[in-house]
Amino acid sequence: MVDRSFKGGSRGVSPIQKRLLAWYARNGRAQLPWRKTRNPYRILVSEFMLQQTQVERVLAKYRAFTKRYPTFETLASASVADVIREWQGLGYNSRALRLKRIAETVVKQFGGALPRDLESLRSLKGIGPYTAAALRAFAFDCDDAAVDTNVRRVVQRLSLGAKQPQALVPRGRGHDWNSAVMDLGATICTARAPKCSICPLRKLCAAAPIDPASLERARAKGAAIPFERTTRFARGRVIDRLRRLPAGQGVSLLVLHRELAMPGRTPDDLKAIVESLARDGLVRVHRRQVALVE
Ligand code: ADE
Repeated sequence: MVDRSFKGGSRGVSPIQKRLLAWYARNGRAQLPWRKTRNPYRILVSEFMLQQTQVERVLAKYRAFTKRYPTFETLASASVADVIREWQGLGYNSRALRLKRIAETVVKQFGGALPRDLESLRSLKGIGPYTAAALRAFAFDCDDAAVDTNVRRVVQRLSLGAKQPQALVPRGRGHDWNSAVMDLGATICTARAPKCSICPLRKLCAAAPIDPASLERARAKGAAIPFERTTRFARGRVIDRLRRLPAGQGVSLLVLHRELAMPGRTPDDLKAIVESLARDGLVRVHRRQVALVE
């Protein structure tokens, strides 16, 4: 079933939201130090560190950095060289300098308190749309969607691109929701080889691979299956592609998989589809090349 309500109407929370928040409560990384605090300075430091650096690597550096520079004021009055030294091991040192310059501006222009409005946040050099939304959600409990590549991928798969990430944020739950989507993207809904079989949203996800048993159950109940999710649709896509090849020419399974880019279908799924087409006498596989039977 694809979740069509998203915002959940009068009941407040949609099935997708409910399931993902419940999963986060049980399996999420809520104990990460920057998730346990609402201190805007600490959250800003974590967001800068987490840009292009793995969580595990950030953990130790975050503790040391916030111990040495616990506030905007301490960071603002430190020397650039010391800050760069403290940043060692994280890479991308220009991030450290930008962070320090932001601390200076926060002290000078905002009285030492990070502003929460989007416009002021975006006026700080180095704070783009993602970081501004992340700060608002994680430090100020706003319902902004912090959209990085991982979040975009998760939402894209869930609704086959039909929904904007913002539309999914449950009212009043921005902090946990953003954390949950990030964790799902990092651990289950990964870019390559997503672990759909253990995904808490599998039954609600538009891109989840078809499980023949559930398809049969749904059919038996008379429920409509979106055509794009059916095997018949996938078989049609394969034949359409092979039809466009010059006579006698084939294409490898890997290329076929890449070109067709069918959400949620692994190369093995595609192989099974090609084999079924071969059994039906529509295609042939010769020297690893798939072609229409001439
Ligand atoms: N939690 C808060 N911000 C995060 C980020 N940028 N990456 C991973 N987890 C986070």
